[in-house]
Amino acid sequence: MPSEILMIASPAAQKYPASRFETKFLSPNEFFDEEKLVKRHDDIVWKIFRTHGKFMKKVKSASWFAVAVNEKGDYVSSAFIIDGHEVWIIENVMTDPEQQSKGAGSAVMAQIMREAKKRNVQWVILHCDPAKNDGQLPKFYSKFGFRVYPELARPAPAGVEG
Ligand SMILES: CC(C)(COP(=O)(O)OP(=O)(O)OC[C@H]1O[C@@H](n2cnc3c(N)ncnc32)[C@H](O)[C@@H]1OP(=O)(O)O)[C@@H](O)C(=O)NCCC(=O)NCCS
Repeated sequence: MPSEILMIASPAAQKYPASRFETKFLSPNEFFDEEKLVKRHDDIVWKIFRTHGKFMKKVKSASWFAVAVNEKGDYVSSAFIIDGHEVWIIENVMTDPEQQSKGAGSAVMAQIMREAKKRNVQWVILHCDPAKNDGQLPKFYSKFGFRVYPELARPAPAGVEG
């Protein structure tokens, strides 16, 4: 059975280096106005998570979208944030499978953490299945200050993706 872990970071504690990918930080209205980005984003959601319905329910709660684009302004990677003021939740971190391992996912994470720091967000949390991505996710998120809380690990509800 897949299990989910919780990871927490405190944005004030760290510096987040610049990336070669421009990363837009957009409100839902700004994001949904960018038709080309939204179309590509939806295609990638399907490619990676094989779901739309469950994802779209979650995306309705989004407060912010972080989207890394290439030099032509095309979609490369994204995540969205549910803003609880002192606490942010990061959801659906994903990179176009053809563009992975080039730093775009890191650009998205760094941009989110910089924005959180600027807004005095105390904690940023996320959940993921540590077995996914060849077991690399905890290491990937640890670069941005995230630590695992193993006592909070639990079976994932069916169809839930971080
Ligand atoms: C996780 C993910 C967003 C990373 O995006 P990315 O653009 O490839 O990330 P970057 O290029 O910035 O960083 C790559 C790092 O990710 C880690 N990583 C993630 N998945 C990996 C994999 N399958 N194989 C090897 N490394 C992986 C490594 O730590 C790597 O670090 P390194 O550059 O020091 O070697 C991307 O692999 C993805 O979309 N995965 C599928 C969706 C998913 O599972 N998302 C997480 C939901 S919680």
